[in-house]
Amino acid sequence: PDTITTRMTVNGDDAAFDGDPRRSLLDFLREDLGLKGSKKGCDHGQCGACTVIVNGRRINACLSLAVMHDGDEITTIEGIGTPDALSPIQQAFVTHDGFQCGYCTPGQICSATAMLEELKANWSSAATEDVAAAPQPSLEELRERMSGNLCRCGAYANIIDALKGFAQ
Ligand code: FES
Repeated sequence: PDTITTRMTVNGDDAAFDGDPRRSLLDFLREDLGLKGSKKGCDHGQCGACTVIVNGRRINACLSLAVMHDGDEITTIEGIGTPDALSPIQQAFVTHDGFQCGYCTPGQICSATAMLEELKANWSSAATEDVAAAPQPSLEELRERMSGNLCRCGAYANIIDALKGFAQ
């Protein structure tokens, strides 16, 4: 049978997949495209190390199949910030020591980046465009919204410190 090519953009560049339909998005990104920033921690949806952003939403790339992403816009950690200019969230992680070994950090950053967009969307739908006047998430809510990303080093307090500034 003819193979069906799945086309998407990854970090703004066109990408195509026509391999084994059972291939995970994570393996496609890491092995086929060479984007090793997304990490394989557990490979079954428990740790969040593989978190990437698809059409503005964060997902676990290990639980998703590459063939499911026709037409999607995918952002990995390689698409956030540049070597010369960290994104504000990346800089906040540096400033607040939001990591130790760093293995979970790409997933944490992708997750936090999309999470803050989710919060902004909630503010807009709460009938205010004025972010300063919008209800602020509590620390508990921030922790809950980041709870899909595990850190074996236990840097959670510093990670939340890094994100607090964006939520207040
Ligand atoms: Fe995907 Fe752990 S590697 S959630």
